[in-house]
Amino acid sequence: MVEIPVITIDGPSGSGKGTVSQRVAEALGYHLLDSGALYRILGCVALRQGLDLNDHALLAQTIQQLDIHFGDQGPGSVSVNGEDFSDIIRQEIGGDMASRVGAIPAVRQALLNRQLAFRKSPGLVADGRDMGTVVFPRATVKIYLTASVEERAKRRYNQLIAKGIGAILPDLLRELKDRDERDSNRSVSPLKPADDAHILDSTNLSIDEVVTRVLNLAADF
Ligand code: C5P
Repeated sequence: MVEIPVITIDGPSGSGKGTVSQRVAEALGYHLLDSGALYRILGCVALRQGLDLNDHALLAQTIQQLDIHFGDQGPGSVSVNGEDFSDIIRQEIGGDMASRVGAIPAVRQALLNRQLAFRKSPGLVADGRDMGTVVFPRATVKIYLTASVEERAKRRYNQLIAKGIGAILPDLLRELKDRDERDSNRSVSPLKPADDAHILDSTNLSIDEVVTRVLNLAADF
């Protein structure tokens, strides 16, 4: 049986993974898994419902029970139990809460099958931290996309300003460093390149250049 192809794109916050994954999926007509959105959703729900972050079983049960739909209200849209979560999860607090619930092994385990179910014909682009190491260890092509932390903070700053949201560059830099530290040093599924990943440093590359490189790597298979 021919396996459905999977391209994994892992890397730290602000490396451009989200945009690159979307563009590669569009170019190939593949499905897209934004795994960070799943962690962000749980983080936002936990915050809103005042769930105890030490109650790991409750958090794992909560994420399993949520009815989550991607793309129903247009590209990039996310609904949770019928409510539009597209903007809520993109706020800084959503990313921060995601990295807190993402450090809990029971939560990661509870999300595993949901993520595997995204692998559908004709193929999948999976964006995250552990796509190539844990979720799809036999992926067709693995990319680890990175960039200097200063460049990543600058990109995030420009994105927020363009959206009319106030931002302070040194604060963003500190938050990114904290999140990198938490994601890289946790005991389960830490952020690190798979042994067989192609490492792409996007510090001095445009999005178009990164997309072209990923598509070239995918074309070899
Ligand atoms: O990619 P994104 O910025 O949306 O991810 C938000 C947070 O979710 C990350 O900082 C990380 O802690 C967590 N995450 C994870 N595993 C993934 C995707 C995201 O732990 N596969």
